[in-house]
Amino acid sequence: MLSRNATVVGLQWGDEGKGKIVDALAEQVRYVVRYCGGANAGHTVVVGGEKFALHLIPCGLLHDGVINVIANGVAFDPVVALEEIAALRNRGVKLDAKNLRISAAANLVMPWHKLRDSLSEKRLGKGKQIGTTARGIGPCYSDKANRSTAIRAGDLAHADVLAEKIRTIAEIKNATFNALYEADPIDGDSIVTEYTEYGRQLAAMICNTGGLLRRAAARGEPILFEGGQGSMLDVDHGTYPFVTSSSVTACGVPAGAGVPPSAVGQVVGLIKAYTTRVGGGPFPTEQENRIGDYLRERGHEYGTTTGRPRRCGWFDAFAARYAADISGVDELALSLLDVLSGLDEINVCVGYRVDGESLDMLDPAAMAQAQPVYETMGSWSEDISA
Ligand code: IMP
Repeated sequence: MLSRNATVVGLQWGDEGKGKIVDALAEQVRYVVRYCGGANAGHTVVVGGEKFALHLIPCGLLHDGVINVIANGVAFDPVVALEEIAALRNRGVKLDAKNLRISAAANLVMPWHKLRDSLSEKRLGKGKQIGTTARGIGPCYSDKANRSTAIRAGDLAHADVLAEKIRTIAEIKNATFNALYEADPIDGDSIVTEYTEYGRQLAAMICNTGGLLRRAAARGEPILFEGGQGSMLDVDHGTYPFVTSSSVTACGVPAGAGVPPSAVGQVVGLIKAYTTRVGGGPFPTEQENRIGDYLRERGHEYGTTTGRPRRCGWFDAFAARYAADISGVDELALSLLDVLSGLDEINVCVGYRVDGESLDMLDPAAMAQAQPVYETMGSWSEDISA
């Protein structure tokens, strides 16, 4: 067992290989907790020799005795959760209220969130669009902040309350979507039927996860917090507005899981030996050339959630240091070094220049104008994947 809690965060734009590290650490803890994001995340697990992608269920599910928690900071999509639960059960993984808990305070992703995500991106058009995963993440967190148009997982356990909220909100959404996008109306009644059934299937797992985790922390039971996305996609500290809509750094753990800051524990920051990004936004070390193509093909850099080809480029140490500082990273885990085998030379970005001046501190707002400063290193040709 780990002697204290741990938090795993990605220090780039996501897809640093967090699943692998969380999986390795999960056998040493009692709880594995998702505290941010939602079904926009994606990690690949191998069950019974078969690979498949998970988006919402925490990575601790393959370890006996681990309680997996979807905490209050998550945008919880019951459709995706139930699909994943069914797929895992089909492969013989036991998942029930003993090893999967969902916060009653997590906000629900509703059909109108996914619809609005797509409509809004389409309206923005190429160049301006964020390039979201179309999972309804931004609209769900918008409603969370708006309060009166939000539905929480706890409502799933109360059919009457749920039905009333769905009907009221569907009416508001229909009026808005019609005015903004001339969209076809949403049928509130069919959503009531659908979500009442989800509530019936999930009710036993829904509870006060914050209380559960605070008690566990007081008893000294180790907790692993599993970050989603990557620090440069953090809603406050990333490359805004080309970010996701939650606090994905270690700073998001206390609010997103309902634990005190002292519960964050040891922070492990994940980097890969090069950089990738999916969606729009600045990316100073991007290589839109044969080097980027080489990294993409060798690293299988295609989105787990959307299948989109990832943008690829050199490792950006300047940005990684910024991200490590925000989360107070204690240790680094480096992944995918073997992808670099066979390149003629390897560049590492050690700073930025803006208008000819070197920056002494990274500011994500300056990234769009930044010219990377590289140190060029020797390479190797042998296969080091073992
Ligand atoms: P959203 O989170 O779907 O709203 O997408 C906002 C931005 O974050 C887009 O650029 C997405 O490609 C990116 N994004 C969201 N989740 C992930 C992830 O898990 N890995 C990598 N990029 C992500």
